[in-house]
Amino acid sequence: MIVVASTNGKVGIEAASNVLRSGGSALDAVEAGIRLVEANPEDHTVGYSGLPSILGEVELDASIMDGQTLCSGAVGAVKTYKYPISIARKVMESLPHVFLVGEGAERFAHELGFEQENLLSDEATKVWREGLERTLSSKAIEQLSSHKDLSSLVRLATDPERTKGTVNFIAQDAKGNIATGVSTSGWAWKYPGRLGDSPVIGAGNYADNRYGAAACTGMGEMSIRGCTAFSLISHMKYGKSVLEAGTLAMEELRSLGGNFIQDMNIVALDKEGNHAAFSSIVGKTYIYQTPDMASAQELERVFVKLDKRWQLDS
Ligand code: GLY
Repeated sequence: MIVVASTNGKVGIEAASNVLRSGGSALDAVEAGIRLVEANPEDHTVGYSGLPSILGEVELDASIMDGQTLCSGAVGAVKTYKYPISIARKVMESLPHVFLVGEGAERFAHELGFEQENLLSDEATKVWREGLERTLSSKAIEQLSSHKDLSSLVRLATDPERTKGTVNFIAQDAKGNIATGVSTSGWAWKYPGRLGDSPVIGAGNYADNRYGAAACTGMGEMSIRGCTAFSLISHMKYGKSVLEAGTLAMEELRSLGGNFIQDMNIVALDKEGNHAAFSSIVGKTYIYQTPDMASAQELERVFVKLDKRWQLDS
């Protein structure tokens, strides 16, 4: 039994471990851990108090995957519900669908009796305003919602240092079942409706009991294009160790063309419980906890160099 998470999962890893200690499932552990990160007002990359779109609206994405059945559920662009991971789980368990977005996802959450709330905290509003003021006039900010060319403003306001931020949880329970969950408020100041990799199965999230699981944080546009979570699993399927598979999945991102390349991070677990994590940033960490451990241990990720490219004018 084990829980592996991105380092911002610290607030939830004990709860996830407790689920496993008391005989709960990997899916329950992942959901319990992520809910605490989604509720954490100090984390501006996930759930309540996440940084908003360019219009100042929080839009949350999440997905969950069951490695036993390969069933999955995902939601995107959820604006008024704090726990998208739980909505994603309900999509998986009670609909014949995998992925709901926007109004449909909100309607489904309402039908299920989830509590609706304002997700934009005062602190996130302040950071949003200060972020936009670096490139936009006060007048432009006031008139954003009616602006005719929002896409050019998104390109101006986009801060590549804010493309990151998401939480990953992977758990393996006493029966050997593996589950993964990913939740995010996405890229700060994104164009409304932008979805990253977190709710896209195979891109930001994948679990398969036969091999293991992987989940990503970082610039979702890259892991969508590289099918990065699935890429790692497929390398394990063809005999690579978790360490080799993660390095290969990261290295494959070097072949992505185009002008917008930033950072990528992966956490991974194989079916034997071996874990590893990878980052294009030196010194980045991840955490893990087994039920016999009193607290989570933080370990450094394997660094895999990816050259950044960020060119707005061509
Ligand atoms: N990895 C989170 C996102 O790109 O939205």
